[in-house]
Amino acid sequence: MPKRMQAPKKKTAPLLKKDHALHIVDGRTLKEYTVPIQHGSIHAPDLRQIRASETDFGLLSYDPSFQNTASCKSGITFIDGNAGILRYRGYPIEELAGNRNYLEVAYLLINGRLPGKNQLAEWLHNITYHTMLHENIKKFMDDFHHDAHPMGMLVCTLAGLSTFYPEAKAIFDTDLRQRQIHRLIAKMPTIAAFAYRHSIGMAYIYPSNDLGYAENLLAMMHRPSWTTDYTPDPVLSKALDLLFVLHADHEQNCSTEAMRTVGSAHADPYTCAAAAAAALYGPLHGGANEQVIRMLKEVRTKENIPKLIRQVKAGRRLLMGFGHRIYKNRDPRAEIIKKVASDVFAVTGRNPLLDIALELEKVAISDDYFIKRHLYPNVDFYSGIIYQSMGFPVDMFPVLFAIPRMSGWLAQWQEMLLDPEQRITRPRQLYVGSRLRHIPEAEQPS
Ligand code: ACO
Repeated sequence: MPKRMQAPKKKTAPLLKKDHALHIVDGRTLKEYTVPIQHGSIHAPDLRQIRASETDFGLLSYDPSFQNTASCKSGITFIDGNAGILRYRGYPIEELAGNRNYLEVAYLLINGRLPGKNQLAEWLHNITYHTMLHENIKKFMDDFHHDAHPMGMLVCTLAGLSTFYPEAKAIFDTDLRQRQIHRLIAKMPTIAAFAYRHSIGMAYIYPSNDLGYAENLLAMMHRPSWTTDYTPDPVLSKALDLLFVLHADHEQNCSTEAMRTVGSAHADPYTCAAAAAAALYGPLHGGANEQVIRMLKEVRTKENIPKLIRQVKAGRRLLMGFGHRIYKNRDPRAEIIKKVASDVFAVTGRNPLLDIALELEKVAISDDYFIKRHLYPNVDFYSGIIYQSMGFPVDMFPVLFAIPRMSGWLAQWQEMLLDPEQRITRPRQLYVGSRLRHIPEAEQPS
């Protein structure tokens, strides 16, 4: 080492003690702030104390599309996107699927525990009791154009129901709130089936109290109007019920956020559910399974898969049914669905689109583009193929998603209402528009 050069002095670490807090130095003022950390997060309003000057509004966090913002504390659904874990109220989805039916899971989501024998009997009674639609709702649905999309009909009918049940505005009355929860869960299959029958110009089939939840939907959709003697295939009813379990909730997704946001203004649950269903209608959310089938039909043969992949990689289109905001490794629902597919195909015959889907998955998951971006099949990649094999038209796919998601929406809505920390949803913005300006005098009316 040359003489004049000295070994660098050891930097002494600042005397900081470990604590559950974030220590921030604002480079504009060199002031220090301490913000507590709870549940691995900071309370964003705590940032408001960080101000560049006396008149400064305070620091905001900018998070377009809420990519790193928790909007609530929730005890309903747990997801670990990296590990591919999904739990409802603590129970792994793999244990619930196949062991508990959809209505038991709906009870779990809303009440926080699985129902005992008596609770289940009462719950089933309440749901069965409310499956009918008011005759005027039927007339209202009749007036849609013959080729109206059933999801559009569902959104409007849900909003319309609010005018039939004005008592639903009493959202803080526990009994009345429970009654609307029963009604909404009970009426979803009936609305869905009526929308379908309307689209094919066939008479509506009324719900039957003797049938299970998924079974009733299948009967109302497919029973010929000249007979009452129709029992859906038990394998298909069971598979549909399992698909309902998988779709029942998925924490703070786009439609649930819509439910909570509209609910935060204290709108009645029918109006909130219409908003949630409207969000689910979008092709990036519940409309994706419909788009998957359209895409697979367009591909037609395995030979056309490389062309599709090239278009996706060139950024010209999305690979529908791939990717997820939360799951970056695997979607556990997609894996369960893949297994259900074989039960369904044993009854319906193999859907040729499955072979294209399996090959497409194989090609995509071994391609660098998809690996780098953590893109894997999501729940919608295979659900559409099953629905199609069961005889549902593609237009009905998002409706089949909405039916079970109603229980999740309601559980989240109720949790939001009873959470003392929640207020009306009102995000902030960063204004980047024109500064103050005035209409030139010449343009002002004389
Ligand atoms: N095909 C091709 N590229 C994709 C896809 C896809 N399906 N999904 C994401 N990417 C790419 C994006 O272009 C982006 O690439 P870049 O980094 O070069 O810009 C990167 O992957 C990250 O994607 P984001 O758009 O940032 O992911 P985000 O979390 O915002 O979107 C979403 C998630 C909306 C699900 C998206 O993956 C998508 O559009 N998928 C197709 C639609 C779909 O299947 N939706 C169903 C979701 S599941 C559900 O709602 C039940």
